[in-house]
Amino acid sequence: MSDDRPLERLSRRRFVHLTTASAAAMATGSLALLHGCDHDPPAGPEIPAGQGWSGSVLGNPLRIPQALSPLNATLSPASATVDLGGGRLSRVRAYNGAFPGPTFRASVGDTVNVRLNNGLTQKTTVHWHGMMVPAVADGHPRDAVAPGVSYQYQYTIAQRAGFNWYHPHPHMLTGEQVCLGLAGGFIINDAEETALGLPTGLPYEVPLIVRDARLDSSGNLQYTPMGGAFLGNLPLVNGTRDPFLAVDHAVYRFRVLNGANARVFGLALSNSLAFNLIGNDGGLLSVTRQLPQIDIAPGERLDLLVDFRGIPAGQKVTLRDVRTGWTLLEFRVTQSSPVSGVIPSSLSTIPTLANPAATRVFSFDGMSRINGKVFDPNRIDFRVPFGQTELWRFRTGSGGMPMHGGAPHPVHVHGASFQVQSRSGGRGQVFPWERGWKDTVLLETGETIDVLIRFDRFRGIYLLHCHKLEHEDLGMMANFEVV
Ligand code: C2O
Ligand code: CU
Ligand code: CU
Repeated sequence: MSDDRPLERLSRRRFVHLTTASAAAMATGSLALLHGCDHDPPAGPEIPAGQGWSGSVLGNPLRIPQALSPLNATLSPASATVDLGGGRLSRVRAYNGAFPGPTFRASVGDTVNVRLNNGLTQKTTVHWHGMMVPAVADGHPRDAVAPGVSYQYQYTIAQRAGFNWYHPHPHMLTGEQVCLGLAGGFIINDAEETALGLPTGLPYEVPLIVRDARLDSSGNLQYTPMGGAFLGNLPLVNGTRDPFLAVDHAVYRFRVLNGANARVFGLALSNSLAFNLIGNDGGLLSVTRQLPQIDIAPGERLDLLVDFRGIPAGQKVTLRDVRTGWTLLEFRVTQSSPVSGVIPSSLSTIPTLANPAATRVFSFDGMSRINGKVFDPNRIDFRVPFGQTELWRFRTGSGGMPMHGGAPHPVHVHGASFQVQSRSGGRGQVFPWERGWKDTVLLETGETIDVLIRFDRFRGIYLLHCHKLEHEDLGMMANFEVV
C-alpha cells in the first residue's frame, strides 16, 4: 500500500466537484478529467465531517461498470479516487480509474488485444481467470511488468460463452492489488447462448461483483490480512456501498462473481424468491435449477435469472449473504407494465469427461503449501500430457488450525476447466452449482474433491492454486507444464 497516501478529508464543496468530475471521467473513460479541477463550484453549505458517511438509509444506485470491447483496449492500473457511495471519496487502485474495472464483452472467435500500462508503484500482470489463453498471455507471476512498463495480451477466444474475469497475479502481491480494487468482468457470448434468447446487456443483464472491504479512518480501501485471510467488515457490489437497483416486472440475468479475497458468501433472496441458476464458471449448465440458496467462494461465478414479474410495484427484494446477515443489494420493483421474459428449462448439452489416464493428488496444507511445498515461480512441480484426461484429487492436509488459515480453500486451475465428480468428507456432496464446467471449487476442512480435467488448448506453464488470495500469496500455488 506504499503508493496510497491517505486521502485528505474533503469539504462538501470539493466533494461535489470531484464526484461530478469522477462520474464524467468514468462515463468518457477519460482520466484527464480527474485532474485540473481548478475552480470551485458555487458555494454550498458545509456538512460536518463524517455525516452521511455511515451510509444513507436511502442507499446508493448500483454502479454498473462501463462495457468495453477487448479487441483493442488498454488497461491502466493506477491509484485512483472513487465514490463508493456514502459521502466521502475513497482512495483505491483501479483499472482506467474505475472500480471495478470495465466489463469486457466479446464473442467466440474474436481476438483480444489488451495493452497493460502499469501505472502502479509495484509490478503487476493481468490474469484472465476462466479464459483459455496461451501461457504467455496468462498473466503468470513470471511475466510481471515493472512500474511504468507495458505488456501486450493477445489471444483468440476459443471457448464457450461464460462470465470470466481479470485481475492482477504478481508474485506475493495479488491479495493486496485485488483487495485495493483491481478486478473486472469479462463476458463471452456464443451462438448457443444467443439462441436461448437470454437477456444480453443492459438493462436486463447486470454483472454483480460481490466482495467485502475494509476502510481506514479516511475512508480509503485498506488491505489488512490477518491470520492468512483478508476479511472485510462491509460488503461492496460493483464497488458500491448499500447499493440498490431499480427493476421492472421482468426476468433479470445477474452475472455474479465472488471477487472477495477470502470470504465465502451464501446468497439468498428475500420474498421467498428462488434463484434460477443457469450457469457457473465455465458457462451454461445443462438444465435450469431453482435454488433458494447458493454458496459462492472467491473466484467462482454464477449466471442467475431472477424473476421479478410477480412482485408488486413498490416492493423491495433483497439479495443477502446468509453467513454474515449482510444485505448485499436491494432491488426496488418499480411501476411498469409487464415485460416478457424467458426462463428456459433446457440449456445446453455438456460433453462429459471420462476414463482418466492418470490420477494426481493435491494436499492443501495449512495456509501456504500444496503437497508440502511453498510456491517457487521458477520450479515446475509437475508435467501434464496435452490432451490427456486426468483425475485430480484435492484434499485438505495437516498443519493449519481452521481459525488461522486452513480451509476454506477455493481451488483454482489455469489453462482448462474441469468437471467435479465427487466430494467426500465435510459437506459430502456435489452441489447443483458445481455441475457443468468449473475452474474453481470450494474445498472445506476434511473434504476430498475429485475432478476430471483435460488440457487440450495450449501447451506451456500454468498454475494450480488456492484462490483465497492470502494463501496464494503465502505460497499455496504450484506450477505445472502442459507438454
Ligand atoms: Cu483468479 Cu490464478 O487466479
Ligand atoms: Cu485463473
Ligand atoms: Cu487456501
